[in-house]
Amino acid sequence: MAETSVTETAAPASRDNSASRDIRTSIHPYTNLKLHETQGPLVVNEGHGVFVRDEKGKEYLEALAGLWCVSLGFSERRLAEAAYRQMLKLPYYHIFAHKAHDIGIELAEKLLSIAPVPMSKVFFVNSGSEANDTVVKLVWYYNNALGRPLKKKILSRAKAYHGVTVASASLTGLANNHRDFDLPIANIVHVDCPHFYRFGQPGETEEAFASRLAESLEQRILTEGPDTVAAMIAEPIMGAGGVLLPPATYFEKIQAVLKKYDVMLIADEVICGFGRTGNMWGTTTYGLRPDMISCAKALSSGYLPIGAVMVSAAIYDALRRQSEKIGVFSHGFTYSGHPVTSAVALETLKIYEETHLLDHVRRVAPHMQAGLRRFENHPLVGEVRGIGLIGAIELVADKQTKAPFDPKAGVGEFLFKRAQTYGVIVRALGDSIAFCPPLIIQEEEIDLMFERFAPALDDTLSMVRERGLIR
Ligand SMILES: Cc1ncc(COP(=O)(O)O)c(C=O)c1O
Repeated sequence: MAETSVTETAAPASRDNSASRDIRTSIHPYTNLKLHETQGPLVVNEGHGVFVRDEKGKEYLEALAGLWCVSLGFSERRLAEAAYRQMLKLPYYHIFAHKAHDIGIELAEKLLSIAPVPMSKVFFVNSGSEANDTVVKLVWYYNNALGRPLKKKILSRAKAYHGVTVASASLTGLANNHRDFDLPIANIVHVDCPHFYRFGQPGETEEAFASRLAESLEQRILTEGPDTVAAMIAEPIMGAGGVLLPPATYFEKIQAVLKKYDVMLIADEVICGFGRTGNMWGTTTYGLRPDMISCAKALSSGYLPIGAVMVSAAIYDALRRQSEKIGVFSHGFTYSGHPVTSAVALETLKIYEETHLLDHVRRVAPHMQAGLRRFENHPLVGEVRGIGLIGAIELVADKQTKAPFDPKAGVGEFLFKRAQTYGVIVRALGDSIAFCPPLIIQEEEIDLMFERFAPALDDTLSMVRERGLIR
């Protein structure tokens, strides 16, 4: 049966190029698999600075830093050299069962020293999803340690993105991450999305919207039963849900509610961490006081897979007591604290410091934000939002009423493809178009990014007019 389907999906032998070989062999993440069989992949084989090049030699400005991660661009030799040096010294070792290595120790020390709030310990993982799965397990283990077996529910928000493994996909608040995967699992509760443009009521201020959301959160905790609600997880800026910035006073107000009911806060810094918002952490930008922090992506500039969970002293204390009681803390991955990924992460953090990358981000961010806002008057654009070197443009069918396009019309997808034709890779999150370039981007490159994007937006307007999709 399997062999039959391989034959059925194989591309004709005459097209035995990399695209047909890919179609024959790979299941692509976040892809319409059937469409892929006719459309094929964009084969990207090289990168330099903020640019990547496809197999035909065409160059693209990578306006999403790959998947929000390649902070140092695509040709940072120091990271390649750090990996090479570590490969020669100790290519692999683990940190299970009382083992350690110098490079892992150094990375843990470094992370704790730059944490936005005092953190006690670091647990290494290989991705954002593993970080958030770990967070879920730690929340449960912690409450069992405290003798609170009912306090297990974790609050997350509609449109949140926390990953794709079983628990992290359950935390994710996007329908397609649950649909037909039999998710979410039990004990995950989704609460309001804080997107003011979409969910604020007519005449409501951002502050009043934030108060309403905090009241709704409190109501939900009371309905669920405060003794059953353990934690809330939140991205400082919601990334894959559409680059949604928190409304003014939101985190201040929801944290007061969480504190009242002894519900811990987990900051998912997987996108915001390491400079994206102009501070080292989104937590600092928005005044979060988390008990745990998950991070990944720019921790290694995306060069190797690594993530981390940092926990407060109170959490660590409960974990150690429980592991002493059981005899072991039975959680960990073969590649937790891998020496080569650790070496690359450490070098990444050194480069951030030595090149004063945060200062650079703060210098060029206003240029990017001003560039984005120049699209505000475009007939297709409902909202422009962003901070630091992250932002989005939301497309609407009617600027006045904010009416969205029918998702089936694929307007965002059309724009994304047109932009690619003009040599800029953005990301369509439904009809929100995200920008999150490498943090090393220069002002001239920001200009080029928007110069390439603008005709794609105009082409999209022509398309929706021709199809009668816009009012
Ligand atoms: C905020 C956030 N959390 C978690 C994840 C999951 O990370 P990964 O894809 O490395 O598993 C992502 C990925 O985009 C993310 O944006």
